[in-house]
Amino acid sequence: MALVQPQTVIVFCVLLGVSSGLTPDVELVKSPGETALFALSSASFTAVSWATSNTTIISVSPEGNITNPEYQDRITLFSNGTLELRNVTVQDNGEYWANVTSTGGSENITLFLLSVYEPVSEVNITVNASTSNLIEFRTSVSLTCSASGSSLQYNWYNQSHSLSTNTSVLFISSLKRYDNGPFKCEAFNPISSAVSRDIYLNASYGPDNVSVEPVPSAESYLEGEKITLYCRHSSRPTPRFRWFLDGTEQFLALGSQLPLTLTPGHSGNYSCMAFNALTMIYAWSPPVTISVKAAPVEPTTNSGLSAGAIAGITIGSLAAVAATVGLFVCIKKKLLPRKSIPQVQSELNSTFVLPRDLQRDLQTWRQLLRW
Ligand SMILES: *[C@@H]1O[C@H](CO)[C@@H](O)[C@H](O)[C@H]1NC(C)=O
Ligand SMILES: *[C@@H]1O[C@H](CO)[C@@H](O)[C@H](O)[C@H]1NC(C)=O
Ligand SMILES: *[C@@H]1O[C@H](CO)[C@@H](O)[C@H](O)[C@H]1NC(C)=O
Ligand SMILES: *[C@@H]1O[C@H](CO)[C@@H](O)[C@H](O)[C@H]1NC(C)=O
Ligand SMILES: *[C@@H]1O[C@H](CO)[C@@H](O)[C@H](O)[C@H]1NC(C)=O
Ligand SMILES: *[C@@H]1O[C@H](CO)[C@@H](O)[C@H](O)[C@H]1NC(C)=O
Ligand SMILES: *[C@@H]1O[C@H](CO)[C@@H](O)[C@H](O)[C@H]1NC(C)=O
Ligand SMILES: *[C@@H]1O[C@H](CO)[C@@H](O)[C@H](O)[C@H]1NC(C)=O
Ligand SMILES: *[C@@H]1O[C@H](CO)[C@@H](O)[C@H](O)[C@H]1NC(C)=O
Ligand SMILES: *[C@@H]1O[C@H](CO)[C@@H](O)[C@H](O)[C@H]1NC(C)=O
Ligand SMILES: *[C@@H]1O[C@H](CO)[C@@H](O)[C@H](O)[C@H]1NC(C)=O
Ligand SMILES: *[C@@H]1O[C@H](CO)[C@@H](O)[C@H](O)[C@H]1NC(C)=O
Repeated sequence: MALVQPQTVIVFCVLLGVSSGLTPDVELVKSPGETALFALSSASFTAVSWATSNTTIISVSPEGNITNPEYQDRITLFSNGTLELRNVTVQDNGEYWANVTSTGGSENITLFLLSVYEPVSEVNITVNASTSNLIEFRTSVSLTCSASGSSLQYNWYNQSHSLSTNTSVLFISSLKRYDNGPFKCEAFNPISSAVSRDIYLNASYGPDNVSVEPVPSAESYLEGEKITLYCRHSSRPTPRFRWFLDGTEQFLALGSQLPLTLTPGHSGNYSCMAFNALTMIYAWSPPVTISVKAAPVEPTTNSGLSAGAIAGITIGSLAAVAATVGLFVCIKKKLLPRKSIPQVQSELNSTFVLPRDLQRDLQTWRQLLRW
């Protein structure tokens, strides 16, 4: 509405005798319901008339006064020539001409431009696809910004970074996982602006980069250790998993974690497979080797000494004890197979006079043998 149509220009060039000056002297920007004041400060004049490009609004002169009935209730003309127009609407957009004839007889013509804008509200983004059907590399989407308000212009934001798009539609071809947003659009006009809610695209992707990670990680493990194998992956949504040991499916777990309490039978090459039901892509991890060694016999240490320290102490007296124990084992196996340890001990103690420190070593040795 702000544009001057060629027809209008010709009309006023003839009517007003103005060869240039179509640039308004004053521009008024209003929203509906407001009052526009077309201000003049003419101290004294013999005649004044106000007209739009369509019609005369009011004309006051010694020849007589004319007020357009359509404007009668909405206008006031002040003695300095100023025209007040109340309760403006978008239909009032356009040019307003003032023709003031001074007492000296000279004419002063002033051009006003009135721009009435509906404020921006109800900004909304719509995606031309169901968000559950967006798949990386395969979907192109257009995001459409809608809003109510007049003379709208647009800005788009991706994670609060402004995008170069300034139209109502943001087109994203071959969607990537990184195009997740949040996207939002801002609609604005000269009197107001408003921002839409955040939109996440959450495109489905993957799985890719699938790998097996044992936690804790080690070259090899001892029998009895508890470890968890994690199936690492990049995927949206969370895929389904299957686990394989040397190519044989393991049904212990269907999730991304495979907890194991290791036995030597758990040794082998593990891999996981991830399947994304939305992208219909499945992907295998490279195999990861887990090797489990049979657990060594470990002493339990009541003395507060570490197993290492006990071992150190023990080794010194081991040679001395070896013969005794060899005999001891022999006795146990052949002569005293069913006897309890205290019995054996008392018999041993009564049979062999063991030095005190060797008795202690015997205790350790017996534990080592897990009697
Ligand atoms: C301005 O108003 C005067 C007095 O009413 C009139 O004679 C004159 O033609 C008007 N000028 C234009 C350009 O309308
Ligand atoms: C014409 O009117 C405008 C606006 O009121 C004013 O600024 C300007 O001085 C006037 N020109 C003459 C020649 O009176
Ligand atoms: C013109 O007169 C009106 C009413 O008296 C006043 O409010 C306004 O400020 C005046 N405008 C100018 C530009 O003098
Ligand atoms: C025309 O309007 C002016 C200003 O409102 C007023 O002074 C004058 O008396 C009116 N003339 C006629 C003939 O009504
Ligand atoms: C303003 O204009 C609107 C639409 O033309 C109308 O519905 C409303 O009653 C008017 N308000 C006043 C105070 O004149
Ligand atoms: C002039 O008339 C046109 C067509 O009826 C209308 O759209 C426009 O709003 C009018 N201009 C003014 C300033 O009243
Ligand atoms: C945005 O548009 C959608 C789809 O047309 C509609 O369901 C939703 O209510 C709208 N939201 C707002 C705030 O206008
Ligand atoms: C969305 O619109 C774009 C063009 O604007 C088109 O290329 C794309 O295929 C549409 N996507 C869907 C899911 O309709
Ligand atoms: C959008 O931006 C381009 C370049 O920056 C500019 O030429 C164009 O006028 C702008 N369009 C709107 C509607 O602002
Ligand atoms: C949105 O921002 C992310 C992160 O900066 C970027 O990777 C992605 O390409 C952007 N997408 C669009 C459509 O601007
Ligand atoms: C999209 O992802 C965001 C976080 O990235 C999440 O908050 C939101 O709930 C997801 N929306 C849908 C429809 O899945
Ligand atoms: C794959 O995953 C590893 C570890 O999780 C990560 O360091 C790497 O950046 C990922 N590579 C790609 C291409 O996503």
